[in-house]
Amino acid sequence: MSDQHSFETLAIHAGNTADPLTGAVVPPIYQVSTYKQDGVGGLRGGYEYSRSANPTRTALEENLAALEGGRRGLAFASGLAAEDCLLRTLLTPGDHVVIPNDAYGGTFRLFAKVASRWGVEFSVADTSDVDAVRAAITPRTKAVWVETPSNPLLGITDIAAVAGVARQAGVRLVVDNTFA
Ligand SMILES: Cc1ncc(COP(=O)(O)O)c(C=O)c1O
Repeated sequence: MSDQHSFETLAIHAGNTADPLTGAVVPPIYQVSTYKQDGVGGLRGGYEYSRSANPTRTALEENLAALEGGRRGLAFASGLAAEDCLLRTLLTPGDHVVIPNDAYGGTFRLFAKVASRWGVEFSVADTSDVDAVRAAITPRTKAVWVETPSNPLLGITDIAAVAGVARQAGVRLVVDNTFA
């Protein structure tokens, strides 16, 4: 897909190729766990087991990546599953994360009740205030986490400005836009 396509066109076409087996114009829902291989390690289209990848999910992930102008999209069964995966991918014990002072309750509990038990520290900041975010970053900070609009207070964070602060500090920026 080229950048020439509009959002609406991408929404319909990105990641959505006709099914090679039947010509179905939208990808069928693949309700399968295991895929036959053509030999050891000989995967057809990269599929071996639906937990790792599934053509229906691939279509969604490619579509979302195109709409967001991203390199890859990853789809999860729930927002908290995505957050948990992200935490365990990015962080190791001793790392620190700056989270919003009005973070979604489930996100706060994930940090306060789960990640903290594995040695991940966090502190809160008003992420609508770029200086407050900058001041909250410590030498152990690995990520700044923002929610915009935030749940429940509908706070707005300037993503570009906070991205600049994060980049300067060499830390990742996580944006949860569930409410958008
Ligand atoms: C800002 C925000 N992040 C994450 C979640 C969690 O999403 P899920 O319920 O799919 O785990 C929610 C749910 O309302 C939310 O509002």
